[in-house]
Amino acid sequence: MNDLPIGIFDSGVGGLTVLRAIRRCLPGEHLIYLGDTARVPYGNKSPATVTRYSMEDAEFLTKKGVKMIVVACNTASALAAPELRAQFPGLLILGMIGPGSRAAAVATKNRHIGIIATAATVGSGAYESRIRETFAVAGDAAPVFVVSRACPLFVPLVEEGETESEIARMVAAKYLAGLQDEGIDTLVLGCTHYPLLKGVIAGAMGPRVTLVDSAEAAAAETEQLLAERGLLRDADSGGTEQFYVTDAAATFNRIAEAFLGRAPQHLELAAWDGRTEQA
Ligand code: DGL
Repeated sequence: MNDLPIGIFDSGVGGLTVLRAIRRCLPGEHLIYLGDTARVPYGNKSPATVTRYSMEDAEFLTKKGVKMIVVACNTASALAAPELRAQFPGLLILGMIGPGSRAAAVATKNRHIGIIATAATVGSGAYESRIRETFAVAGDAAPVFVVSRACPLFVPLVEEGETESEIARMVAAKYLAGLQDEGIDTLVLGCTHYPLLKGVIAGAMGPRVTLVDSAEAAAAETEQLLAERGLLRDADSGGTEQFYVTDAAATFNRIAEAFLGRAPQHLELAAWDGRTEQA
């Protein structure tokens, strides 16, 4: 069981920030990544559609015999996590909302937390309710202020490599101006693309706001969950990586380098009937 891979899926390239963070924590794990590049973005789609896509993504990974699934897409986590857990009851499934919320609850000092994410994630209210639940579970009933903003232009900016440019700074200034006035001391990067804009976002928010990277929080919890179950693979064994996409492998390959800091190895086109062909 320990040698089985961890399955990671996202709507496209964004989940590679999560894969990168998991790889840093867990060098011995085999990782299988699925990017649903044929149907990206999920962030402007309805809950029913995102749930259907997420089910198919998870099914693809379960057929690969994974020991755990990390839903490396905030939108899929926000909209489809309960259905995924119901559909695959015996499988360990970790989404992004829980880890990001718990990290934010730890980080905030003044209990004023901001969330930036896709329109679908913001519309779901998932972060806000999970943050409130996190405090409640800890027996902390004092008021918490949570404010959310959708930042739809951030995803295409990152995919075009505009992560430190003037246009990125202008978009960040526009989206984040209102948030600065809300008195938040913690801001959750609630979308897998946003860690690549950390510099620009930090510049817009100023030094008094702590940025919570939900990818890093999810990687730490992945390690913890596997360790608790005795499912970790030996760190010295050298883990492998396989990447699958549902379309446009060449584009994925190009953008993936920015997310991973290296070209992805073993990239294949995924076919939903289980067939694959070399990209
Ligand atoms: N991966 C998505 C997320 O984290 C962003 C891209 C999309 O909209 O599909 O919410």
